[in-house]
Amino acid sequence: MSFRTTTDVAYVEDVSPGSGALAPRAWYASSDARSLSLNGSWRFRLSATADAEDDSFAAEGYDAGGWAEIAVPGHWVLQGDGAFGSPAYTNHLYPFPVDPPRVPTENPTGDHLRVFDLPADWPGPADGGAVLRFDGVDSCARVWLNGTDIGEFKGSRIPHEFAVGHLLRPTGNVLAVRVHQWSAGSYLEDQDQWWLPGIFRDVTLLHRPAGGVLDFFVHASYDHLTGAGTLRVDSDVDGRVVVPALDIDVETGCPVTVPVRPWTAETPALYDGELVTEGERVPLRIGFRTVELADGLIKVNGRPVLFKGVNRHEWHPERGRALDLETMRADVLLMKRHNVNAVRTSHYPPHPAFLDLCDEYGLWVVDECDLETHGFVEQDWRDNPVDDDRWTPALLDRAARMVERDKNHPSVVIWSLGNEAGTGRGLTAMAEWIHGRDTSRLVHYEGDIDCRDTDVYSRMYASHDEVERIGQGLDGGTHRRRALPFILCEYAHAMGNGPGGLADYQKIFEAHERLQGAFVWEWIDHGIEHPRLGLAYGGDFGEELHDGNFVCDGLVLPDRTPSPGLAEFKKVIEPVALTAGDDATLRVTNKQDFAGLCALAFTWAFQVDGETVGSGDLAVPALAAGESADVKLPQPPVLAPAGAETAWTVRAVLAEDTAWADRGHVVAWGQVPVTARALPAVTPTAAPVAGERVVTLGPATFDARTGELRGIGGVDVTGLRLDVWRAPTDNDDGAPWQSDVRYGVLWRELGLHRMRHRLDAVEVGDGALTVRSRVAPAAREVGLSTVYRWVSDGDRVQLTVSVTPEGDWTLPLPRLGIRFGLSAADRVSWFGGGPGEAYPDSRTASALGRWRSTVDALQTPYVRPQENGARADVRWAELGGLRVEGAPEFWFSARRWTTEQLDAAGHLTDLVPGETVWVNLDHGQHGLGSQSCGPGPLPRYFLDVAPAQFSFVFSAVDQSIDSLIDIPTR
Ligand code: GAL
Repeated sequence: MSFRTTTDVAYVEDVSPGSGALAPRAWYASSDARSLSLNGSWRFRLSATADAEDDSFAAEGYDAGGWAEIAVPGHWVLQGDGAFGSPAYTNHLYPFPVDPPRVPTENPTGDHLRVFDLPADWPGPADGGAVLRFDGVDSCARVWLNGTDIGEFKGSRIPHEFAVGHLLRPTGNVLAVRVHQWSAGSYLEDQDQWWLPGIFRDVTLLHRPAGGVLDFFVHASYDHLTGAGTLRVDSDVDGRVVVPALDIDVETGCPVTVPVRPWTAETPALYDGELVTEGERVPLRIGFRTVELADGLIKVNGRPVLFKGVNRHEWHPERGRALDLETMRADVLLMKRHNVNAVRTSHYPPHPAFLDLCDEYGLWVVDECDLETHGFVEQDWRDNPVDDDRWTPALLDRAARMVERDKNHPSVVIWSLGNEAGTGRGLTAMAEWIHGRDTSRLVHYEGDIDCRDTDVYSRMYASHDEVERIGQGLDGGTHRRRALPFILCEYAHAMGNGPGGLADYQKIFEAHERLQGAFVWEWIDHGIEHPRLGLAYGGDFGEELHDGNFVCDGLVLPDRTPSPGLAEFKKVIEPVALTAGDDATLRVTNKQDFAGLCALAFTWAFQVDGETVGSGDLAVPALAAGESADVKLPQPPVLAPAGAETAWTVRAVLAEDTAWADRGHVVAWGQVPVTARALPAVTPTAAPVAGERVVTLGPATFDARTGELRGIGGVDVTGLRLDVWRAPTDNDDGAPWQSDVRYGVLWRELGLHRMRHRLDAVEVGDGALTVRSRVAPAAREVGLSTVYRWVSDGDRVQLTVSVTPEGDWTLPLPRLGIRFGLSAADRVSWFGGGPGEAYPDSRTASALGRWRSTVDALQTPYVRPQENGARADVRWAELGGLRVEGAPEFWFSARRWTTEQLDAAGHLTDLVPGETVWVNLDHGQHGLGSQSCGPGPLPRYFLDVAPAQFSFVFSAVDQSIDSLIDIPTR
């Protein structure tokens, strides 16, 4: 056959989903049919346009020896050290003119070539055919095998299969794939993420034996009234269904009912089985569960569920969306270990192996279709493909490829039509098709505000107040919507430091049946490893149009280090609540939807001033899901010394090793305070002594002219003064489109980042040194009259700061406290909240105890540097030879750069440690909120400007803190 070259690329701009591919079907790995992975190193050539090169490269005998090599799966822009173009990030703006279905002439096109032999024992043509499967190619591909054009397709995150048996030969098969970055399909794939072209998921050749399985649908329901499961496997090719553990051996298509253990995310009971046809055996992992909409609620196995979910994009900081199994498993393990019970696969079907993991480890899944047309919002949704019949076949193709691929996963309980695609007939057609094809699951789409096509009322970023109203059913809406359950498919925008307000949301979800939980936006920061910048975000690759670090908004950092936000989420959604009960008891509440407490063991510890002085096991009754009981705590093991602070810490830990964590893993904990500490105070017995240049007061030395502290004991201290500025967080700055007040912006406008300190008086009195000053921003009349009053008992020195606002303050403050520099400090220990960072509306995970760390480990390396690292409720802290005790407790942070340097940094690599360690002791911090996309902090977490007084007792201490218990900060 001679090969006729062509540069016809009309298919690229064709709204159709493609041609030549086989009908969609279930994704499975056969027990006995052969398969050949075509992953690995491929030859690669990049062109600037779709038609720069003809397709002669696909012909047999083409010499690609001069081409580069590239890894498949992979994105070419993340390979070749920049030789193959760069990633680009936009949130919702199309990075090309909106002229559907046309795409730019500049259309990076990657020709991929791979020559392969069949394994020697690959069955011959008489034994069946073969299928070539692409699990994900972004965004449009044309495929040739041995010189024959076998088709082209769009739909980046859905599988496409081609029948190729007739084209194969034992050796020297030439597989050529031309991939275009932009296509008509790109209009349907405007998700908030990096634009990353390439063959980014597996390429596999599957032998299809004669009489082999084609498509099959496992229907496995559970009757919670009888405890019986009913299994029926519908198969295109007749065969038998065998489930040894259940003694099942039936024909396909025949239902069988037997007693079973049901599948839930809490108890993911799977039964191994097999579908056996004449020519093939296919493993089945069957989970029996029934999902239904009943009494206005999403019920599984007869009980309403509460989603404690995350939105998960597929991400790896080096490989983009080309994930390996271990990375997927890492996500699932991290989620399970942090009490997450649900995942929305925002905003496309994930790699199929991820769903296997969700079945196995137990996570509820909202499987979302690869569809977003958000950029059309810029033109009031005019020409939106989802409301244009010409595009409907493409939409239906996407829906079918998702549903057919994933329909056999018990973890998938809800199908989602897509994300931010406006409204239109195409979406209705998708919903109708899905409802018709699969009656065993619900349909979700957030954009369907009236729930015309959907089974769940869903919103994103609704405020606490609004969610409360929805919970009470006071939100109005259509008749249909009022009868439906509610979920927040996105909330708690985890960009940078945050989110704040998780605990307040959870309280509301738990208070109203209709509220069935929520999904944090989002799981992981999509930072890209970068040789110069460390981690790159939008704009770092010279994109003209980009949305900066809005792509770094996850609960885990790009390398999957849990952020403090994830620690907070884990605590807020813990499956068992351990709180103070009546009469010195502990109230234990099983907050799970299904499971009892038998997987957990309980321990108690008794602490005196943060040190554990006794511990043991705690007997807790077997509470069913939803039950609670007051449990008697033991006698305190010691009599607390006067003035000591004592508390119980109770933990629920895994009683045995599980698939996702070892025995002893802490699932939930609670603290019950017993006695409160006595606040530190210094009796002013020493008098300040004024010298020519310095004033001394007990162990402290001050500049005689300015009253500025110079040192305490042998420890040099610089720059101690009132501080109100913090390097605004992404949530302080808020998103530009937010209509609410954005304090990060207003703070800067007011000038809080450049406060001036006017010295009014240095008064050396009998018992005190008093320094009076006024702290105020240039160009403004508001100010803070500030008095620093120092007293000493000879050994220790106490600073009391009194702040009186002057003028008409209309904004809260970022922080209020003091800061100072120490010339040498490394190790830190403290008694207070820890081990991790906390802020006023994100402090649930902060446990009272003795903690230690290094200054470096106190920092949270948010991809874009910003305020971080504060420790809450600190009673005392020691670092650099100084001990500070607070009256009252304070927020503690220390870093090797100033707040101003932190504020100025764009990337972590901009932060260069200096000689000085800057310490902040704050009386107050403003809340975090999640205004980088959602609501700001609730008013109760505002740091309002008001008269304030707080004090610290300083003393010099031995620098060695080795005697303290060793609990790493992270
Ligand atoms: C939502 C959207 C997400 C993401 C988020 C902000 O509107 O669905 O994809 O863009 O906002 O990070």
